[in-house]
Amino acid sequence: MVAADLAAVPETALWTLYHRAVEAARPDTVLPDPKAVELVERIDYPFAERFGGGGGLQSQLQALRVACFDREVADFLTRHPRGTVVCLGEGLETQFWRVDNGRADWLSVDLPELVSLRERLLPAGPRQRLLACSVTDPRWADEVDPAQGVLITAQGLLMYLRPGEVRDLIAGCAERFPGGTLVMDAVPRWFSALAVQGKLRDHGYQAPPMPFGMDAAERQKLRTAHPAVAEVRDVYPSGGRGLLGALLPAGAWLPVVSAKRPSVVALRFADRRP
Ligand SMILES: C[S@@+](CC[C@H](N)C(=O)[O-])C[C@H]1O[C@@H](n2cnc3c(N)ncnc32)[C@H](O)[C@@H]1O
Repeated sequence: MVAADLAAVPETALWTLYHRAVEAARPDTVLPDPKAVELVERIDYPFAERFGGGGGLQSQLQALRVACFDREVADFLTRHPRGTVVCLGEGLETQFWRVDNGRADWLSVDLPELVSLRERLLPAGPRQRLLACSVTDPRWADEVDPAQGVLITAQGLLMYLRPGEVRDLIAGCAERFPGGTLVMDAVPRWFSALAVQGKLRDHGYQAPPMPFGMDAAERQKLRTAHPAVAEVRDVYPSGGRGLLGALLPAGAWLPVVSAKRPSVVALRFADRRP
């Protein structure tokens, strides 16, 4: 067993891992993820005591959000088989084991305490690198070789940054990676406000503040972060199970729900290379 002594924002990586694992353990799962199930069994941490039983709507929603990222990464790898996937705030994500194509390079960037835990649980293979660095420190970008194409993911990360930091991060990516793509998710403003007020509770667990919120209806504003943000594309979840699966398509066109829902978007950066 490996002890996980995390608190505050880094501890959120255990929450997302747990919900992915609980969802993956279902026979009718929307996101098979045996590595996540194995990880939860190997980590010495009171998951159920802290986060509850899981397995319901919350876990399925998590998995559907993650599936949006998997789809984007898989599509990128089809077009750039030897490209680089940069996972910002990767935590204990197991996406590599779900979508890797055997040829791409992967760079994982997270805070030092998280990287130290990840190194013990998921040591980097020959095409994987782990970097202990805040994503607000532009030095992480120096570690990326953009020659074969770059896809950057920020999955479950940006809500923990301040709005100015999110803007700077997008601008930095647009500047450093012409022709690249950033896939990111955002919680809506009402959700961010609840977290900032300390009102987001899941059993005994209280989520940390989420200073950055963005309503789905505002997503085109992301283009103002930098002139090289050429396109902001909505990545909509699909394939849900049960009532959620039946209601998901309605979320895209019911005006109020659609405007105030959580979002996953892909930002394409203009290719300004000669
Ligand atoms: C909710 S977890 C998401 C983890 C993973 N991406 C997933 O979806 O399961 C948020 C992650 O962002 C990381 N994080 C938060 N702020 C960060 C920062 N400034 N620099 C690097 N990582 C950060 C945390 O340590 C944590 O691993």
